[in-house]
Amino acid sequence: MFKKFFSKLSKRVGIDLGTSKTILSVQEKGIVMKEPSIVAINNKTDQILAVGEEAQKMIGKNPKFITLAYPLVNGIISDFEVTEKFLKYFIDKLFMENLNLAGRPSVVIGIPLDVTEVEKKAVEDASLSAGAGKVYLVEEIIAAAIGARLPIQDASGSMIVNLGGGKTEIAVISLNGVVNWRSVNVAGKELDNDIVQYARSHFNLLIGHRVAENIKIKIGSAFELKEELKMEMRGRDLISGLPREIIVTDYQIRDAISKSVATLVDYIKATLETTPPELVADIYERGIVLTGGGAQLKGLDQAIAKAAEIPVRVADDPATSTIRGLTTLLDDDQLLKEILLPSANEEKMVR
Ligand SMILES: Nc1ncnc2c1ncn2[C@@H]1O[C@H](COP(=O)(O)OP(=O)(O)OP(=O)(O)O)[C@@H](O)[C@H]1O
Ligand SMILES: [Mg+2]
Repeated sequence: MFKKFFSKLSKRVGIDLGTSKTILSVQEKGIVMKEPSIVAINNKTDQILAVGEEAQKMIGKNPKFITLAYPLVNGIISDFEVTEKFLKYFIDKLFMENLNLAGRPSVVIGIPLDVTEVEKKAVEDASLSAGAGKVYLVEEIIAAAIGARLPIQDASGSMIVNLGGGKTEIAVISLNGVVNWRSVNVAGKELDNDIVQYARSHFNLLIGHRVAENIKIKIGSAFELKEELKMEMRGRDLISGLPREIIVTDYQIRDAISKSVATLVDYIKATLETTPPELVADIYERGIVLTGGGAQLKGLDQAIAKAAEIPVRVADDPATSTIRGLTTLLDDDQLLKEILLPSANEEKMVR
């Protein structure tokens, strides 16, 4: 009786639990929190020292007794306890900031396409022990498609490519379901690694991953730009051991990430090649839609369009497509029901 009462009052919370970033939204308010997916832990006491942005500031500056832990690797929970603590931090903060929230919140959370039952259960269990009353699992890519306002309910093919930090998912969606898909661990972080490697092999320069990411965001591209872009690259000279700064161009960065971009294009082409022809015809008409933070790479749409000979467009504000889709689901019981994944944990769920 009480449980029912509370679940009626309790708010629903959308969680885009990402490799790079985690975003929370609540009914009526929309996005309420956005933090990098990082936790700083004191090894001596096992206590959490910082979460999100505060933890990110410690990267590369931490003494040995502080570990910087990433809850997810390539979109999959890599450390259950860290993820649980990470989610608990968010849910507790939500309650502190929204005193009108009652009961344990119901959580709608996106998961990758290629998760195993064990990995799925880990997301559910981590959410439940972090304070969620009920957990609804949906495929992240479907949420991203809803956020990008693709007509996923129609009997017509839509192709979406969600480029995250740890993985890129490519899916053809029709009638609220994924008809064909591919997933590859080439995404934002891999491009950062490419730039780190390039700096090492071409300039004997050791640079950090955050420096590489910043360069990628500012001057990185997948297709020739109209105007040349340049910026400084700071690191440590591998021969002298001293700090050194050089100037890099968009051309060099394009070269650095070209193999990874080619891999992404190959996966997209392979997905198209194995999609039923009726759906391919729809995709050609509508074009491919890019979502996720990585969709903001300059010229990526042009590079894919040229290689696959198909129109491509970047969704509006692609980095929030997934959370906006999850937010839609908080208020749309019918759609949620249609795309909901079976729980890995039926008996444990609070009803
Ligand atoms: N302007 C930009 N150009 C290129 N890449 C960008 C840009 N802005 C953000 N990114 C990249 O987008 C990635 C993060 O995307 P997103 O927030 O969608 O990932 P995520 O949801 O945390 O990860 P995943 O879905 O893989 O678990 C990062 O690697 C970041 O460097
Ligand atoms: Mg994501």
